Amino acid sequence: MNKKVAVIRREHFNAAHRLYNENWSDEQNMATFGKCSLPHYHGHNYELEIKVIGEIDPVTGFVMDLKELSDLVNDKVIERFDHKNLNVDTEEFKQLNPTAENIAVVIYDLLRPHIKPSFELFVRLFETPRNFVEYPA
Ligand code: NI
Repeated sequence: MNKKVAVIRREHFNAAHRLYNENWSDEQNMATFGKCSLPHYHGHNYELEIKVIGEIDPVTGFVMDLKELSDLVNDKVIERFDHKNLNVDTEEFKQLNPTAENIAVVIYDLLRPHIKPSFELFVRLFETPRNFVEYPA
């Protein structure tokens, strides 16, 4: 049994969103989501960390080639969300509130089928330098 190691790739995207519940009044949305519920959207500089945990391949010495992981994240996630309005321009968030929590779960689900089943996958998403989420918890 080889030792398990975590490898992490950091990526970045910009996106706009609005947090709101369409069944609520403007007042209730403002009370819950604050400025994030303002109707004309606002942007975030999202920082994304993708962590893969697995055994070191004795042939390559890698768990996973980080270039390969970077290409995968860019292809499946960054291309899809970068410079988009998440509420308006993406299928994923037309019916799903684009909170950092929901974005992290969506990103996990986009990547999971493309990562070797024996590897563990974790998504960490920074919405601001001080606010970030992790999935799975
Ligand atoms: Ni926001």
